Amino acid sequence: MRLGVLTSGGDSPGMNAAVRAVTRKAQTGGHQVLGVMEGFRGLTAGDLAELSVHSVSGIIDRGGTILRSSRFPEFKNHERQQEAAEICRERLDGLVVIGGNGSQAGSLALHEAGVKVVGVPSTIDNDLAGTDYCIGFDTALNTVIENLAKIRDTASALERVFVIEVMGRSSGAIALTAGLAGGADCVVIPEVDISLEQVCEAVASGYRRGKTHILIVVAEGASSAYEMAEGISRAGGYDVKISVLGHIQRGGSPSALDRTIASRLGVAAVDALVAGGSGVMVGVCGTDVVEVQLREALGARRSFDEDMYRMVADLAS
Ligand code: F6P
Repeated sequence: MRLGVLTSGGDSPGMNAAVRAVTRKAQTGGHQVLGVMEGFRGLTAGDLAELSVHSVSGIIDRGGTILRSSRFPEFKNHERQQEAAEICRERLDGLVVIGGNGSQAGSLALHEAGVKVVGVPSTIDNDLAGTDYCIGFDTALNTVIENLAKIRDTASALERVFVIEVMGRSSGAIALTAGLAGGADCVVIPEVDISLEQVCEAVASGYRRGKTHILIVVAEGASSAYEMAEGISRAGGYDVKISVLGHIQRGGSPSALDRTIASRLGVAAVDALVAGGSGVMVGVCGTDVVEVQLREALGARRSFDEDMYRMVADLAS
């Protein structure tokens, strides 16, 4: 078979490990692998190049993606999808799409246009339904908690409140999980309505209990750190500092967990295509690798961990 592989949307640490796994697994099975440059934009332009065992050598520990990626909203357009499907039909027998929600919507469109496609979930936001885990989330969490620890040092020295903004346009997964792992006093996420008064009360209650620092982690999709800090400062008269972590969360060498999951999912994606599968996404359920229908995964809303949310507040004292 001739298998294509592309990385799409926001890059995430571990994408390279997944490209490596797809390439090596396919080649071990006697298949040819073509790397598609710049995601769906490159696919539509026919920008494909053969990958060898050697072209994926030394990339398992590299962030970013050797195939590069693109935000390509034009791919929502039916004509672009048909153009890409035509190129796939001419040059490929199957395609692996490594990316998040928008990218897997592109996978489904190609599948419906008759292309054999298997998705691999990869986004630091960890917001795809149908999988417990998306490649890149763990590394992003580690980056956030490393920075929270540094911020805590300086916050404690001057008894300050810090508002730390993390990524997550429509998901609070990074804020919530890193908030728990990094010892935040309060997390502000899109999934939960929280008033400025409640946030100020978390600050006041922390100081009443003798805390020397207050860390509030805000998901970008819930509020900007600037607005939140200004509100807290106005309402409570505190000296509030801001730290927007931004794209450092997307970079860096992938963690052991991200490399492991990327490798397992890359292998599973090739297995699925070789077995004749299409329109599915490989994912993680507990400790198992599973296959889910793309249509179902994209149609479902990822559940939000309310217990974890309550735990952040309970453990803040
Ligand atoms: O890839 C997901 C993500 O990092 C979101 O958390 C964030 O909102 C968005 O991408 C930023 O995208 P861009 O780098 O295209 O501005």
